[in-house]
Amino acid sequence: MGKFSSRYVCQQCGYESVGWLGKCPECGTWNSLVETVTSTNSKSESRNSKQGSKIINSKPVNLSDIKSADTKRISTKISELDRVLGGGLVPGQVVLIAGEPGIGKSTILTQIADKLGSVLYVCGEESANQVAIRAKRLEVKSKGIQMLEDTDVDSIINTIDSIQGVTLNAVIVDSIQTMTTSDLSGMAGSVGQVRECANRLLHAAKERNIPLFLVGHVTKEGTVAGPAVLAHIVDTVLWFEGDKTLTTRILRAVKNRFGPTDEVGVFQMEDKGLVPVDDLEKAFLEKGIKNISGSVVTSVMQGTRPLLVEIQALVVPTKLAIPRRIAQGIDSRRLELLLAVLTRRCGLPMYDHDVFVNVAGGLKVTEPASDLAICLAVASSYYDKSISGKIIAVGEVGLLGEIREVVAQDKRLKEARRMGFSEAISSAKYKFVSETIKILRR
Ligand code: TYD
Ligand code: MG
Repeated sequence: MGKFSSRYVCQQCGYESVGWLGKCPECGTWNSLVETVTSTNSKSESRNSKQGSKIINSKPVNLSDIKSADTKRISTKISELDRVLGGGLVPGQVVLIAGEPGIGKSTILTQIADKLGSVLYVCGEESANQVAIRAKRLEVKSKGIQMLEDTDVDSIINTIDSIQGVTLNAVIVDSIQTMTTSDLSGMAGSVGQVRECANRLLHAAKERNIPLFLVGHVTKEGTVAGPAVLAHIVDTVLWFEGDKTLTTRILRAVKNRFGPTDEVGVFQMEDKGLVPVDDLEKAFLEKGIKNISGSVVTSVMQGTRPLLVEIQALVVPTKLAIPRRIAQGIDSRRLELLLAVLTRRCGLPMYDHDVFVNVAGGLKVTEPASDLAICLAVASSYYDKSISGKIIAVGEVGLLGEIREVVAQDKRLKEARRMGFSEAISSAKYKFVSETIKILRR
């Protein structure tokens, strides 16, 4: 890499500087200069020397002549992960697993390593010993996992090539924020380092047709380069979500060049690692508790799957001038809006009541399809009248208090019927929220 040197390049206007500057002298943007590797040759020279002959000789190929329509998939043998990936890994696929520290990224990767057999596990964050302790806890059986304590990408790529006699089924890099290349002077975790290291690893994986997993930490402050910098480089971005105080973890595909996006895999974090949850309702429905007011079941789409979740509400009188609205798992502004609809259109005096709403199981619900269930749960708690456990509510609520049909409504209701819900409250039967609240009085 001797002929490369580093420069700071403005991400807005392309201005180049030798040192880091807080503000770009060209376009005036703050903190836009990112350390980048540049060739010491002039741009045109380097292009000619590296790819010139290729450019002249490149020829288009007729699409119908390309035979690799069927992508070979490698199963990870973890059902929920395969589902999120769209049927398994593709050779050379680069997967970014992003999530908050402590959510379970290293755990799932150790489990993946166990299932895939021959794997190079690069631990930049923990010592090989720490990973070994985790592997013991997870009862890892594979004898083919090679551990590598290294943070220099160029040396890691050399190591990949030097492992003779075994074909690696995957390379795992935990985490990309700890990786560096000596061609850049920035610290590990800086935008320049993260981007360059990911690029080099990606090219190495693609050239050798080895699937590559990168771990990316999500940081709230955004000071350290996170998954946002990498999302466009990699093939697949999987977000690991969940409330760390609870056991349910959700793996969500937010980008996937080889499969569907928005597909989710659900896991439970147990003593011996992450266990795929096939019976989703078990995770999100509090089945044991019946006939208590403030609980309504709704259906949210998770990728292609309708998922039944329970919305819980608690409404209590308050003397506060500004009553409290506390929402967990739903947008608090959406809750404010729905409470305003309940006050104005249904005559529920929410202005002198504190309202707490929670989605059971730690799931985050962003769909408006849960509006009706939220309204009914609040009303149920207010009247202290329980709603039968056999009822499901699905619908978006408008400002006029009307119930709107939602995407894939039939699919959701069909799945609910299959799960034993005998009555559906939706736009098919009711026009306004106020009509549905009358159910509570019957
Ligand atoms: P970890 O995979 O280290 O998180 P990350 O790599 O995303 O930072 O997992 C962290 C948490 O998971 C830790 O608090 C302990 C818990 N855990 C279990 O509950 N069961 C297990 O079998 C393992 C390995 C971890
Ligand atoms: Mg970790």
